Amino acid sequence: MVKAAVLGASGGIGQPLSLLLAISPLVDQLSLYDVVNTPGVGADLSHINSKATVTAYLPEDGKGLEKALTGCDIVVIPAGIPRKPGMTRDDLFKINAGIVRDLVTGVAKFCPKAFVLVISNPVNSTVPIAAEVLKSHNVFDATRLFGVTSLDVVRASTFVSEVVGGSPTDYKVPVVGGHSGETIVPLLSQITPSVEIPSDKLDALVNRIQFGGDEVVKAKDGTGSATLSMAYAGFKFAESLLRALGGETGIVEPTYVYLPGVKGGEEVQKAVGGLEFFAVPVELGPTGAVQATNPLPQANEYEQGLLEAAKKGLSVNIVKGVEFISKL
Ligand SMILES: NC(=O)c1ccc[n+]([C@@H]2O[C@H](COP(=O)([O-])OP(=O)(O)OC[C@H]3O[C@@H](n4cnc5c(N)ncnc54)[C@H](O)[C@@H]3O)[C@@H](O)[C@H]2O)c1
Repeated sequence: MVKAAVLGASGGIGQPLSLLLAISPLVDQLSLYDVVNTPGVGADLSHINSKATVTAYLPEDGKGLEKALTGCDIVVIPAGIPRKPGMTRDDLFKINAGIVRDLVTGVAKFCPKAFVLVISNPVNSTVPIAAEVLKSHNVFDATRLFGVTSLDVVRASTFVSEVVGGSPTDYKVPVVGGHSGETIVPLLSQITPSVEIPSDKLDALVNRIQFGGDEVVKAKDGTGSATLSMAYAGFKFAESLLRALGGETGIVEPTYVYLPGVKGGEEVQKAVGGLEFFAVPVELGPTGAVQATNPLPQANEYEQGLLEAAKKGLSVNIVKGVEFISKL
């Protein structure tokens, strides 16, 4: 029996993500939580003739979050405000940091063993916030906490196929680092199957992978950021994790993790100047993150340059998240 919760379930990401989870054969119970509109979203999804039973909660009488989270195996968090044109993900910190802190406090209290997938931006900082909250409740296990960077991976394979031809589903692109602008580092020299990116197209392709989210923010013209592609990417990550938890082997997904707590993470940490959080391809297994892989030694000179910029940005983002909790 798998019980999944979506926190922020009424939002632009939350609704389609909840739909995908509701129709997944890997989910038995789906619990929806938001500060608004969950009764409607829940009633709507509950009419789908899929295996999952759907329950929906609001914060009413202070018990909504507790009811939503009790017994959960996996908690996906897309709660919080999205970007408007001209905003960076870091601009969201002021509001989303507190939202993530409060929701993860609920996880620590009501389902401390759950696997937690953080989508809320800025992911580079909200995952450190989640880790600090879990640590403060003595329930932190790095193998159960994931920053969802899958949309960068999804975008990378789409944009690569647009440059070199073929189907986007043909290409697996390792994207490492973080989830904002220059901290997103696609390792195009390690695409499988191997492809040659024409040198005159390289800068533009890397820039598009790093700032692809801005295309959506601009096109939505003030009404939000990526929601449908994000719901797809978030679901794909959740599905990979659920398959791995169910015993399937050989599943590897890039994700933003706390390196010192994941096997193989220390080697990555040394390669990134001691940063505690970094996205790398991680093998998923019955206990969550079972092995971080280190693709950095194979990075070419161009990618090393990208990594240097990413490390600078990430160190600031990580400290900001950690201090938000430690200075309380
Ligand atoms: N990780 C990624 O790749 C990625 C990609 C796109 C967007 N995002 C981020 O995901 C977040 C959500 O984006 P969206 O477009 O769905 O926004 P949205 O505004 O459409 O939805 C957010 C939802 O969160 C709810 N919410 C607010 N405070 C809450 C709380 N305390 N508890 C529970 N729910 C709460 C809101 O009521 C709303 O329904 C944003 O922070 C956005 O930047 C991440």
